[in-house]
Amino acid sequence: MRRKFVAGNWKMNGTRAQLAEVRAIAEAAAKLPQIDAALCVPFTLIASAADAAGAMPIGAQDVHEAEKGAHTGCVSAAMLVEAGAKLAIVGHSERRADQNETGHAIWAKAAAAHKQGLGVILCVGETESERDACRAERVVQAQIEESLPEDADGSWLTLAYEPRWAIGTGRTPTPEEIEAIHAAIRRKLTDLIGDRADGVRILYGGSLNGANAAAILAVENVDGGLIGGASLTAEKFVPILEAAAASSR
Ligand code: 13P
Repeated sequence: MRRKFVAGNWKMNGTRAQLAEVRAIAEAAAKLPQIDAALCVPFTLIASAADAAGAMPIGAQDVHEAEKGAHTGCVSAAMLVEAGAKLAIVGHSERRADQNETGHAIWAKAAAAHKQGLGVILCVGETESERDACRAERVVQAQIEESLPEDADGSWLTLAYEPRWAIGTGRTPTPEEIEAIHAAIRRKLTDLIGDRADGVRILYGGSLNGANAAAILAVENVDGGLIGGASLTAEKFVPILEAAAASSR
């Protein structure tokens, strides 16, 4: 039985003025011991958010693959650990698109984060034209093949399926579409890492909110959610945590 995992991705939002939201979210998460919750915040907020969050893990939204060196503007896994991060997102579609991140770079980032003891949320997802061309499953499976570290297991690695066309748009795939692609992801994981695939959680992300969370989190092989806009305030995020807890009963 995989525990539900709900993570917020604050993207390029959040300054110290929002620490009260971190505190309120962490307090609500502490009352839901049947699920795992986390918030991935901008680099600049990791240390103060980690202080504010108590037992709730704080994560980063990216990590550099190298341990140190001449990489202006980048942050290493060891730096994240020192700042108080417990996990890092890698391969988010906004970084694949904006920073031209390749599958190999994402593989290296995941491995570097794991080496320093960070949990990893590895994101995959198709574009709208790829879905329209019935290529979603193939695209997502290829992304996993390129970027999944060989030693991946559920103790440190989580996958997040985020169709690009559903991110920030208010549109989501149907539960049937989500079920089909999460099953395809599980099959690909099993091909690559055998029985260890059973322990790897697969999150859904893309316009998840308090209104649709219960239905989406009930879908087979949906082990939680990765949430952008609706994770920025306790008012919007806590109902998603509660829906995950309710679906874990
Ligand atoms: P939204 O929840 O804002 O659609 O964002 C999803 C996402 O990209 C989380 O990583």
